[in-house]
Amino acid sequence: MSKAKFITFEGVDGAGKSTHLAWFAEALRKRGKEVLVTREPGGTPLGECLRDILLNQPMHAETEALLMFAARFEHIEQVIKPALQRGTWVVSDRFSDASFAYQGGGRGMNVAKLEQLECWVHENFQPDLTLLFDLPIEVARQRLSRNITLDRFEKEKDSFFEKVRLAYLERRKKHPDRIMLIDASQTPDHVKVNLEKIVISI
Ligand SMILES: Nc1ncnc2c1ncn2[C@@H]1O[C@H](COP(=O)(O)OP(=O)(O)OP(=O)(O)O)[C@@H](O)[C@H]1O
Ligand SMILES: [Mg+2]
Repeated sequence: MSKAKFITFEGVDGAGKSTHLAWFAEALRKRGKEVLVTREPGGTPLGECLRDILLNQPMHAETEALLMFAARFEHIEQVIKPALQRGTWVVSDRFSDASFAYQGGGRGMNVAKLEQLECWVHENFQPDLTLLFDLPIEVARQRLSRNITLDRFEKEKDSFFEKVRLAYLERRKKHPDRIMLIDASQTPDHVKVNLEKIVISI
């Protein structure tokens, strides 16, 4: 049997990650894989407490980055690595690329500091595959406008999300073999056709 893989979904708020992640996991299960679906920030009891704080409490960009990576350490050690070791595939709604995009791009935090945290928390460990849901910010914002309540990130200005999107695309340039671009502006059916091709190929 092939080795269990760690797959992450990334992209700005409203790109359609959560909508397609459940479907993607189910498609993997239909092909006989054991699959664990998880998310960041979150994924563990402590991580979910930190998620609540991160999405609601004002704080410095540095604090935000430290809490994100603290939650991530627990997530990797308690959930992701044990699952992979027992042969379960892991699909996570966001991982470290989101820190580079939001705290690095959006908040303008020094990327070298984020790289230090990445090295500290998961040196020599990266997703096997990252699907970057990319789309124009106005389309993403339009989709989110249907939500009644918005979290601290979702309430940010369009210019913040433009910076997040650019930082994600930069990250893809740096890791072209790992990060695959998904055109998230298409209809859900089109996105699923693309995801289906990926499921078959991995
Ligand atoms: N391809 C699509 N076309 C049109 N609407 C979509 C598409 N994908 C998702 N949506 C809708 O857009 C909204 C946001 O989608 P979703 O919650 O999956 O985004 P997300 O990337 O998970 O956002 P967040 O980062 O805020 O969790 C939802 O109402 C969803 O139904
Ligand atoms: Mg989501």
